[in-house]
Amino acid sequence: MDGAYLEIRDLVKSYDGKTRALDRVSLSARRGEFVTFLGPSGSGKTTTLMVIAGFEAPDAGLVRVAGQSMAGVPPHKRGIGVVFQNYALFPHRTALQNVMFPLLMRKVPRAQAARKAAEMLDLVGLADFGNRHPRQLSGGQQQRVALARALVFDPTLLLLDEPLGALDKNLREQMQLEIKRIQRALHVTTVFVTHDQSEAMALSDRIVVFEGGRIQQDATPLEIYNRPRTEFVARFVGDSNLLRARITDPGAGIAEVEGLGPSRVLPQQAQVLPNGQGTLLLRPEALAPAEADAPNRLVLAVEEVVHFGDSALLIGRAGGVTLRARIGGRAAQGIGAGAQVPLGWRPDAAHLIGA
Ligand SMILES: Nc1ncnc2c1ncn2[C@@H]1O[C@H](COP(=O)(O)OP(=O)(O)O)[C@@H](O)[C@H]1O
Ligand SMILES: [Mg+2]
Repeated sequence: MDGAYLEIRDLVKSYDGKTRALDRVSLSARRGEFVTFLGPSGSGKTTTLMVIAGFEAPDAGLVRVAGQSMAGVPPHKRGIGVVFQNYALFPHRTALQNVMFPLLMRKVPRAQAARKAAEMLDLVGLADFGNRHPRQLSGGQQQRVALARALVFDPTLLLLDEPLGALDKNLREQMQLEIKRIQRALHVTTVFVTHDQSEAMALSDRIVVFEGGRIQQDATPLEIYNRPRTEFVARFVGDSNLLRARITDPGAGIAEVEGLGPSRVLPQQAQVLPNGQGTLLLRPEALAPAEADAPNRLVLAVEEVVHFGDSALLIGRAGGVTLRARIGGRAAQGIGAGAQVPLGWRPDAAHLIGA
């Protein structure tokens, strides 16, 4: 692709000669872009990262970085910085020595390496921790050291494999912001792996959704959320109502929707649905307490209410299907099981997925 800094074409990889861990994976990233691989366990995210880094050889396909083929180039000659989930710090070296290591490997003089490593520790917020050993650092601090070590030699690419998986929720969110800040400051092209959709949404310029060794969708976070290409993506990213739909009038944008009956949908979406059959995605927040002019309306027989404070999730039945609706915390006050709540949804808040 034009302007691609990282380019991957048709990667195929099997570990056992039978099943494909990667089945024709293609993607690219522009310089400075933050791309996230999102998918369930076993979907091929790590394998793709390992092939990019050169720790695994693909059976077929190619990897190019800055226009150079990586075929036959050993990992240490690729100039790629990698951070793994388990940090993999040297336990008997201090934080500073850990960060200096890649520079010493590259024959940078010791004093210069120490200076650069100290700068990196400063960038990740650990200026005063250089003399500590990993066991004297918290998980979050160890992760920062690993990040500094991956960045210290000005890598061509930064690869992060579930780097925050071992951290608790608050620390994870704090580190997400830190990673984003550092990535922006250095403008380093980054591939981040996670199975956590909210982490992917928070960090990425682009999300590549993996399943079963294949790419399901490659798009911006909002496209992935609002216009998932498959039911798998719709379910994996965000909360969803998925209802079978059959277009009855493509010109006017009318669909017969499971449980909801004839409903207004966007004609431009209805017209591209193969055979007029598909699935209607209604995010829970698309179902709002009915406004008088909402084109599609229903009454939800509430079975359960989950209060989040700022919002509430209503789970109930309408027309024989179970629906989830997310409404404002105030609007939810006084609503409990057994309530009949009028809700509406607009065609442009829904999305049709081809069958
Ligand atoms: N070293 C390995 N040897 C054999 N099979 C592996 C190895 N690494 C991964 N696999 C298999 O390849 C598939 C993809 O794994 P992986 O890339 O680790 O997925 P993810 O990182 O998305 O969880 C899985 O079925 C996994 O069991
Ligand atoms: Mg993995």
